[in-house]
Amino acid sequence: MIRWLGHKLLRSPWAYELVQKLYGAEEGTRRVAELCADLTGDWILDLAGGTGRLAHLWPEFGHYVCVDLDRGHLAAVRERRSDAYPVVGDALALPFADGVFDVVISVSLTHHLTLGQLDQAVGEAARVLDPEGSLVLVDAIRVPGRLRSTLSWWLDRGEHPHSARELEDVISGHLHIDHFDQFDLVHRYVRCTAHHRRSSTGDDG
Ligand SMILES: C[S@@+](CC[C@H](N)C(=O)[O-])C[C@H]1O[C@@H](n2cnc3c(N)ncnc32)[C@H](O)[C@@H]1O
Repeated sequence: MIRWLGHKLLRSPWAYELVQKLYGAEEGTRRVAELCADLTGDWILDLAGGTGRLAHLWPEFGHYVCVDLDRGHLAAVRERRSDAYPVVGDALALPFADGVFDVVISVSLTHHLTLGQLDQAVGEAARVLDPEGSLVLVDAIRVPGRLRSTLSWWLDRGEHPHSARELEDVISGHLHIDHFDQFDLVHRYVRCTAHHRRSSTGDDG
């Protein structure tokens, strides 16, 4: 009952933002920003970008596209960045052509997806990513035996938290990982950047 009420509340943008704050979103954002410091390009896709909470991190990207399943969350995106393109869409079947984005960033999506769906979503992210582009992926993970993680996942809406190993395996099935680390807030998080494998002799598989 408590979980059901909490999950219902989270559908409103303000309640969602409040919970993000309680979960240490500010420090999490700083960690994401750190990872994105060197990214360049014109088109950036915020995959499952929700309310566009992170839109301010990429002012130098001329085109910020925020795709999400939830129309309610997307309603807030233009308040954050007036030139944003909010798009209702599914991470498992993105409504974009191949290779159009210089950067695809995904924060806090993976725990909403089964392992099979995660594989599909990373495959889609790789498909829409420019051959020279970068994927940035950050999310809380499952850590058996860590009490704070276990309790947080019980309260959280995410039904499919993955282990760091699962995330690493899925991502490396599609892209070459160049950075992979972890940090602790209430949850423990994985941070990862990846790019397409080079097709020449420089293939680093
Ligand atoms: C925890 S929120 C994170 C939002 C945003 N990335 C942020 O950090 O504030 C997860 C978001 O994923 C969206 N989502 C879940 N499954 C999705 C899917 N299959 N395709 C697109 N969006 C999805 C939800 O609607 C929600 O807005």
